[in-house]
Amino acid sequence: MGNLLLCLVLYVQVLVGTVAAAGARPPAMYVFGSSILDVGNNNYLPGGAVGRANRRYNGIDFPASIPTGRFSNGYNIADYVAKNMGFACSPPAYLSLAPDSSGPLVHTAVAYGISYASGGAGILDSTNTGNTIPLSKQVQYFGATKAKMVAAIGPCAVNARLSRAIFVIAIGNNDMSVSAAAERAQNKSATDRRRDVATLYVNLVSNYSSAITVQCTARVLSPMGECWHSLNQLAAGFNDALRSRLAGLAPRLPGLVYSLADLLGFTRDTLADPWASGYTDIVGACCGSGRLSGEAECFPNSTLCADRDQHVFWDRVHFSQRTAFLIAQAFYDGPAKYTTPINFMQLAQS
Ligand SMILES: *[C@@H]1O[C@H](CO)[C@@H](O)[C@H](O)[C@H]1NC(C)=O
Ligand SMILES: *[C@@H]1O[C@H](CO)[C@@H](O)[C@H](O)[C@H]1NC(C)=O
Ligand SMILES: *[C@@H]1O[C@H](CO)[C@@H](O)[C@H](O)[C@H]1NC(C)=O
Repeated sequence: MGNLLLCLVLYVQVLVGTVAAAGARPPAMYVFGSSILDVGNNNYLPGGAVGRANRRYNGIDFPASIPTGRFSNGYNIADYVAKNMGFACSPPAYLSLAPDSSGPLVHTAVAYGISYASGGAGILDSTNTGNTIPLSKQVQYFGATKAKMVAAIGPCAVNARLSRAIFVIAIGNNDMSVSAAAERAQNKSATDRRRDVATLYVNLVSNYSSAITVQCTARVLSPMGECWHSLNQLAAGFNDALRSRLAGLAPRLPGLVYSLADLLGFTRDTLADPWASGYTDIVGACCGSGRLSGEAECFPNSTLCADRDQHVFWDRVHFSQRTAFLIAQAFYDGPAKYTTPINFMQLAQS
């Protein structure tokens, strides 16, 4: 059970794309992905099986200590990526803006940006079906948003803004854990497992690239990390496949500028020398219950640690606010090994 703790969150990819005028804040940011970026979309999904963080102790270190739906004690990676680029925090959750009416949605989409990220989301529609907004649906929501923006301010103004906007994508972790769990349950031969993994990469990379192509934009980032050995390998393999796909895609998508970030690599390095980053606990969750506080999610009746900044993990699956801050810093202008071909700062200034 202890092992489970560390796992899960880390193998994600964060992809960011944009073209901002040097020195100026990009005009808007659009966010796609899973729970490491969700700022409240899941609060609006129906059903008891949806993963939600709209209750304490989530948000205990957020302004006014309110639970917002972020799976964190405070801000998450989307917030810190946004802050580094000159925004106050992540753009708001799409479903919080009454998407059926156009007023607040269009204004926010034009002036600031929108987050479509949803806890549990996968690149594949089959991942956590019915309990999340899969990437394909997030892209559809973006299309609907764009149509409303066009109706409001016209296609030229919209295209001018989108060509300089930042797109952040971090997704893939849920697809890999669902797939790994299915493989374990099925007792397949090594040959069959290798074939399944190869098929998984093809499906992930193909649907991932079609999401990017649909947005027909430039500028993004990506990567992952994780703890089960097999999942680490799965994530590393996906990172490699994605890196070469993006490199191949870029020349065919004029205006595409991207940064692919290596969350797996960052996490490995941090866990190898946690004291260098001020951590005293890299295994246990800060909020949870049972062994290492990792046997249940963070509930109001959970045990809460006293030293939240000294924990890598907030709950059994998600990073603490401090870890989110360090990740965003590393990708913005940290060691070159974590981002390719450029870092987030260069992307924002390109
Ligand atoms: C890939 O994306 C397409 C278009 O969004 C979707 O219809 C399809 O179901 C996805 N494939 C998988 C395996 O999820
Ligand atoms: C898994 O498959 C192998 C080879 O077919 C077999 O020997 C083994 O008993 C199976 N294990 C389980 C738990 O079914
Ligand atoms: C804590 O709260 C959760 C959710 O309401 C509940 O499922 C669980 O049984 C509670 N645990 C204890 C020890 O009361």
